[in-house]
Amino acid sequence: MTTIKIFDTTLRDGEQSPGVNLNQLEKLEIAKQLERLGVDVMEAGFPASSQGDFEAVKKIADTITESSVAALARANKHDIDRAWDAIKGAKKPRIHVFIATSPIHMKDKLKKTPEEVIDIAVKMVSYAKSKCDDIEFSAEDASRSELPFLAEIIEKVIDAGATVINLPDTVGYTTPKEYGEMFKYMKDNVKNIDDVDLSTHCHDDLGMALINSIAGVENGATQVEGTINGIGERAGNVALEELAVTFEIRKDFYPFDTNLTLKEIKRSSDIISKLTGMVVPGNKAVVGRNAFAHEAGIHQDGVLKNAQTYEIITPELVGVTSNSLVLGKHSGRHAFKDKIKQLGFQLDEDKASIAFNQFKQLTDRKKEVTDDDLFVILMDVQTDIKARVQYKLTNFKVTYDSNNSPSASVSLETPKNEIITGEGTGNGSVESLYNTIEQLIEEDIQLTDFTLSSIGRGKDALAEVHVSMTVNKQVVSGRATAQDVLEASANAFINAINRVFIIQADEKE
Ligand code: KIV
Ligand code: ZN
Repeated sequence: MTTIKIFDTTLRDGEQSPGVNLNQLEKLEIAKQLERLGVDVMEAGFPASSQGDFEAVKKIADTITESSVAALARANKHDIDRAWDAIKGAKKPRIHVFIATSPIHMKDKLKKTPEEVIDIAVKMVSYAKSKCDDIEFSAEDASRSELPFLAEIIEKVIDAGATVINLPDTVGYTTPKEYGEMFKYMKDNVKNIDDVDLSTHCHDDLGMALINSIAGVENGATQVEGTINGIGERAGNVALEELAVTFEIRKDFYPFDTNLTLKEIKRSSDIISKLTGMVVPGNKAVVGRNAFAHEAGIHQDGVLKNAQTYEIITPELVGVTSNSLVLGKHSGRHAFKDKIKQLGFQLDEDKASIAFNQFKQLTDRKKEVTDDDLFVILMDVQTDIKARVQYKLTNFKVTYDSNNSPSASVSLETPKNEIITGEGTGNGSVESLYNTIEQLIEEDIQLTDFTLSSIGRGKDALAEVHVSMTVNKQVVSGRATAQDVLEASANAFINAINRVFIIQADEKE
């Protein structure tokens, strides 16, 4: 078996998914989970892109000890300096420098000749190497680059100090045969190629990210880059959980494995889905809600007789547990704290107390409090950044009657601690709430997406709402959970607005 290194870019390429923007605590929570999952490298972000991203990468680099922490940089000194400043506190830092190598990108985007691109790449890799030992070089759009040119630039950047060479299928265009052959070509034609790890990085525009990554590995790649749940630019990146489980289930066929702890997969998927708002489709391989459900009678009958008739992956392998009934109305703080630990959270005293109060409020309204409910409460409390400036919903009322437009009245506490109240209407209950809040806040707000899902399956399940919107042209997302759909909707909207103020305050610092 060859162990393939896993490079997770959920916090960088994944965070580039439309509508996703995570606050610092959310990124840190994801990073901690990726470490538990056992990724070899996590790309924490792109520090030159914003002050907020810089701070988040720095926080992750200062916290994570087991995995390498990588930061992305374009091939220029400013980006490399920012990347290094953000990750230099890491136990295992890596600078990831990239430049495009395909004819179309060099000519139309970079407006550089191939010779100029080689010159910049070599100079910037040596510059990065003067700061950090571990340097990854990515030839952006490698799969549409000319092979002899790619071989030439790779040989030179390895001489300049690169330790990992990544060959991305940036636009998800290539076929498995072509992608595999590109790796083979580099193995056969780059004299120093065995000095480095070769890496795949596949996007899923044609649904071939997994099979292309495997083709790369079969032809000499020793690192695979991807994200959890396959999130990422456009159609996303390869879903790392699919790769790791494929190698496990078909180890009779593929002589590869990874260092991932497979039973952490479900938890990783849940956390990332919740914090990014990118809901995992029910039929998604390995982590979808229906991945282990057998609907057809004939399948159920077979599974009861022998699970292996239709079940190739056991739920336990990826950490899917049955949703146990946990604490109730009479559970005390002590039992609650034990449960926090069992669910893998470490909350300080203040946060544990806030979470306990929220749990108690929930037991007043909900008969059965499950692990899923607690997970939501704990994650919300753990990742809540209290904004320096913040609007809070203090009260609201919605009147709905099927013959008239719904109307809402809303009271908000402003960042200056004043209470403001307003009324409005809309075509639906949620719209009437949003119109009213918009009038009260007086910012230019455009809602672009709204998703409602339930936590658990019962009638009294919690409602979770994710919104994407622009506030004064700034793209932002928000989320909230409540037992009532309208309350969750209003709070998700306000959460997004508050995030804009946090981002603005961070940028000023
Ligand atoms: O898809 C891509 O080419 C990338 C690079 C920046 C590595 O994400
Ligand atoms: Zn990418």
